[in-house]
Amino acid sequence: MRKPLIIANWKSNPLTLKEAVVLARSAEKYSKIFRGADVVVAPPFLFISAVSKILRQAKLGAQDVFWAEGPYTGEISLRQLKNLGVRYVIVGHSSLRMTLGETDEMVNKKIKKNSLKGVKKSQLERVVVAYEPVWAISTMPGAQVDTPQSAVRALRYLRGILSRMYGKKYADKVKMLYGGSVSAKNARQFLILPGVDGALVGGASLRPQEFGEIISQASAF
Ligand code: PGA
Repeated sequence: MRKPLIIANWKSNPLTLKEAVVLARSAEKYSKIFRGADVVVAPPFLFISAVSKILRQAKLGAQDVFWAEGPYTGEISLRQLKNLGVRYVIVGHSSLRMTLGETDEMVNKKIKKNSLKGVKKSQLERVVVAYEPVWAISTMPGAQVDTPQSAVRALRYLRGILSRMYGKKYADKVKMLYGGSVSAKNARQFLILPGVDGALVGGASLRPQEFGEIISQASAF
């Protein structure tokens, strides 16, 4: 069993730096207590610098990255993120596709131009794939968490694609997460599933105690 990975996706929350500091301190505290899980915190760009000073055990993430360096108004490059200590970047989240019209081509560019191009098979353990049905995201009207059976099926399908691309041995190195309305109440039922290596957590990552509870559950596997 691999060490589970729990990623906090704060989206465009919280509203103030003060609240961001509280959330980051709490995530760091729980990561230190429950070391059986790896924790990544992905704040909005605006708070990355402050959060980087707080996280030690938990790793720093970002919610997006641009595909080039240079004079691109409003965009952030991979090098800038790396210089701030960012270790993980979320690419291709459905909210960018839906609100900003991000296309497969753009997602592809963000991945390829940012050195994942020709990713060596041995580096596949650094790749994380999250299966997150749009209708399961907690902020969608009528959102409903997916069923464990459906999540297993989807992740098996995705791993199958990776196996055909890289061979099973290497495809198995990629971590696969479930995301969409993950809460302290339902996290366990996903974390326990074969082929699920962790969770991408939005709303519940903004509730410090609940997020701590999710980390604790993941740590117990
Ligand atoms: P949710 O968000 O946990 O609030 O459903 C997850 C995400 O969109 O990454």
